[in-house]
Amino acid sequence: MAESSLRSGLTIRVIAAALALLLLDGIACYRIAAHFANLVYDRWLIDSTRSLAQALRVSDNEVRIDLPQVALQIFQFDAVDKTDFRVDTARRGMIAGDAALPLMRGEPDGSVQLQTATVSGHSMRLVATTLAEPDARDIATVEVGETLIKRSTLATEILLAMAAPQLALLLTALVFAWLAVSHGLKPLTALASAIEARGHDNMTPVPELNLPKEARVLVSKINDLLARLERAMLAQQRFVADAAHQLRTPLAAVLLYAERAERAADPDSEHQALRGLHAAVARAARLSQQLLSLARAEPDAAAERSLTTLDLVSLARGVGEEWIPRALERNIDFGFLAPREPVTVAGNAGLLGELMSNLIDNALRYCGPRSRVTLSVEAHPAPTLSVEDDGPGIPAAERERIFERFYRLAESGTEGCGLGLAIVKEIATLHRAAARVSPGSDGRGSRFTVEFPAAVHRTERATAA
Ligand SMILES: Nc1ncnc2c1ncn2[C@@H]1O[C@H](COP(=O)(O)OP(=O)(O)OP(=O)(O)O)[C@@H](O)[C@H]1O
Ligand SMILES: [Mg+2]
Repeated sequence: MAESSLRSGLTIRVIAAALALLLLDGIACYRIAAHFANLVYDRWLIDSTRSLAQALRVSDNEVRIDLPQVALQIFQFDAVDKTDFRVDTARRGMIAGDAALPLMRGEPDGSVQLQTATVSGHSMRLVATTLAEPDARDIATVEVGETLIKRSTLATEILLAMAAPQLALLLTALVFAWLAVSHGLKPLTALASAIEARGHDNMTPVPELNLPKEARVLVSKINDLLARLERAMLAQQRFVADAAHQLRTPLAAVLLYAERAERAADPDSEHQALRGLHAAVARAARLSQQLLSLARAEPDAAAERSLTTLDLVSLARGVGEEWIPRALERNIDFGFLAPREPVTVAGNAGLLGELMSNLIDNALRYCGPRSRVTLSVEAHPAPTLSVEDDGPGIPAAERERIFERFYRLAESGTEGCGLGLAIVKEIATLHRAAARVSPGSDGRGSRFTVEFPAAVHRTERATAA
C-alpha cells in the first residue's frame, strides 16, 4: 500500500538521520570526556613528579634521592594502572627508578614536559621536570609515567553518563515522529479508501473537504483527470452510438436489395436489385474504412507513431497522381501547384496521405463535371497544403460544423458518411497543424487549407519524435 510505504519511508529516513546524529554526538562526547579525564590525571601526575623532585638532596657534591623504600612503594602502588618513575642526573646518569622509561630531559628551569609513549608494550603518559643543582654542579631530571587505564575508564564512564539521557531523548523524539507521521497520513489513508470504494464508472469529483493543502492539490488533479475521462467516455459512447446508427442504414439497404434480387421475376429487375446491393455494400465498406481511418488518426492511437521529416511536395504529388483517373472519369480539371524546392514538415506520410485523399475526394465528389480542382503546396509564410475547387462552396454558417463527425450538408446526396473532414481535422491536430475552410480565391467554391507550424517548431518536434 502506498500509504504504508510512505510511512515506513519517512520513518526509516528519520531513524537513519537520528542514528547519524547519535554517532556524531557519541564521538564528540567521547572526545570531551577524554579531554577532561586527561586533564585530571595529568595534574595528578605533575603533582607526583613535583613531590618526587622535593626529595632530591645534595650530599658529598652529589645529587641523591632522599626517599625511604616504603615511601617509594607507596608512590608506585596503584590498583589499576602501572606507575613508574626515573631519576637521572647529567653527571651520573640514572640514579633511581626504572630504566625502561624513556628519558625526557628539558631545560633545567623546573618546567614540566608531558608526553604519551609506548613503554614495554604499554601506552604510558610521561611527565618530567628538570632542575639545576648548583651545589652539585649537576642537572637532575625527575620523571613519572603511568599507563592509561584509569583515564579511558573515566572517559567511558563520562560518555555513558552523558549519552544515556540523550539516547532516551532521541527515542522519545522518534516515538513522537512516528505518531506525527501516522497522524499526518490519516487523511491520505481515508482518501485511498474512498477512491478504492468507488465504482469504475463513477466519475463524480472526489470530495476535497477536510484534506490538508498538499493532499488537496493531489485531489484537484485527480478530479481534473476524472472530468477529462468523463468527457472522453461520453464522446466515445456518442461516437459508438452514431457509428452503429450509420452502419444500420447501408446494412438495411443490403438486406432489402438482396431480398429483391432473390424475388426478382425478370433479369431486368434482378439486375437493378443487384446494382442497389452493390451500392449499399460499397457504402458500408466506405463507412467501415472511414471508421478505421478515424480510429487510426485518434491522438491516443497515433501517439506512439513517430513523426519524421518529410517533403510535402513529393508526398502531395504522389497522392495527387493516384486521383487523376477519378478526375478524368468525372471530367474535372485537376491541377497541381508546388514550389520546385522541397517543403519539409515533421509528419507521418501514411496519415498525411489519408488527409490529402479525403480533401481531394470531397472536391472531386461535390463539384460537378468541368469544375477545376487544384492541389497545392506552399512554403511561406508557413508550410501549407490546400485543395481548392470552384464547386458549390460551403455556406459560412457551416464552415465549423462540417469538421464534426457524421456532419454532412443536406444537399450533398447519400454517397458519403460524414467522416472525411473529421479525419482531416484529427490528423491535422496530431501534426499540430490547423485545418480550415474558406471560399475559393475568386469567391467561388471552397479552399481547404492545412497549415503546419513554422519551421522552428517543426525542427524541435522532429527531434522530439
Ligand atoms: N469541397 C467541398 N465542396 C462542397 N461541399 C463539401 C466539400 N467538402 C466537404 N463538403 C461538405 O462537407 C460534408 C462533410 O464532408 P466529409 O468529407 O466530412 O464527409 P463526407 O464526404 O460526406 O463522407 P466521407 O466520410 O465518406 O468523406 C460533406 O457531406 C459535404 O456536404
Ligand atoms: Mg468526404
